[in-house]
Amino acid sequence: MAREKHLNQHSDQTSEAASPVSTAPHLSIENELAELRNENTRLRNLLAAATNGVAADPTDVWPETISYHDQPFSGARLAGITKDRTAIRASTDFAELPTPTNDQRQLEKDFVRWGYCLVADALSKDQIQIQSDRLVDQAAAEKAAKVAHLSHRGSGQTVFNMLPKGQVFRDLIALEPHAAHGAPLVETLLGKILGDGYYLATAHGSLVHQGGGRQELHQDQGFVPLPHPPFPLYCLIIWCLTDFSLAEGGTYVVPGSHRTANGENQVRPETHFENLATDNLVAVTAPAGTCLLTDSRLLHSGGKRTAPGTRLAARIFYARGTMRQQENQLVATPENIIRNASPKLQKLIGLDAYYGLGMVEGNARAPHLPKRYVGELSLSNPGAFTQDFDWRYTEDARHQAQLDWDAAAEYRGRNRD
Ligand SMILES: [Fe+2]
Repeated sequence: MAREKHLNQHSDQTSEAASPVSTAPHLSIENELAELRNENTRLRNLLAAATNGVAADPTDVWPETISYHDQPFSGARLAGITKDRTAIRASTDFAELPTPTNDQRQLEKDFVRWGYCLVADALSKDQIQIQSDRLVDQAAAEKAAKVAHLSHRGSGQTVFNMLPKGQVFRDLIALEPHAAHGAPLVETLLGKILGDGYYLATAHGSLVHQGGGRQELHQDQGFVPLPHPPFPLYCLIIWCLTDFSLAEGGTYVVPGSHRTANGENQVRPETHFENLATDNLVAVTAPAGTCLLTDSRLLHSGGKRTAPGTRLAARIFYARGTMRQQENQLVATPENIIRNASPKLQKLIGLDAYYGLGMVEGNARAPHLPKRYVGELSLSNPGAFTQDFDWRYTEDARHQAQLDWDAAAEYRGRNRD
């Protein structure tokens, strides 16, 4: 029965004059003859064109070298756009843009239409307090221990790799309802966005003080060469621990820059996607406790905070379950073999970074396997600050120490004992 259906469909298709020759069975000799005549004409044209030194149909010319490594990335064309503060509006200026809600149907509609959605009251006041207290303490302790990552001349700080830095962070990453009472709804959405088997890509804490926060416009999957598939490869979740607005450093987004109505990506090599932000850049406005989910194709950036005070957020990034290493070599191989492997082999098994992927404690410059991790630190335990963290011996530490506006990073040289 299934075969009969297939054949009938094929018969419909071969009645079109331009169909190429096929090896599939035909229902009628007329269709087969028509197809062969078309192919004969096509080949004659090709032969005639080749004799004259030109190809009749450029799609019939096969490249003779491999160039799949040479695909473009989106980031290079987006630099500088977010500098013009006057061109950025509040998302609440536009009635059609997403506002916080708990209605799953509306959230899905917003996500597909605008590339982001806002889950209302995903964190209770107590849950916000618990996350904020741990984040602020960890950030202050990392500065005191001189293992901090500052930006924007000290007006921004990122707490990398929250996973080992507190049970409250681990509970939020795992979307436990006791950490965030809106987590079940967020988890449902995440499953619909990324499919089954997604995994944690990054978990960062973000602190933005007055004057800090602006990033260049980018896609969170910008390290994937263009063209992208017509669905998000990643989903960033921003848990707003303080209010987000234009003045308070709310994330800038270009609503709808991820796709068209028919599902085509807006950011493609042949489109002027850098123009999508013109008159369309808005700062997300949402109260503390909101959970922002973004399609990783959406053009967006960190927003500059002009108001006094500090904007706090947990940025937790999830990835589709595809394209992982098939074997988890870093877990499945004895540590001494990994440590003694050649740099070339270490790179092959994932102990190196690629466009920021594979970083270790924020270190995407030749990361290595640490013996002493920067884990959970607290101002209440200053004795832990003097540990000989491996991070102090990294290129990342050298870079941070050079930038260091508050002497919050220490570099101890290239080689540790
Ligand atoms: Fe981003």
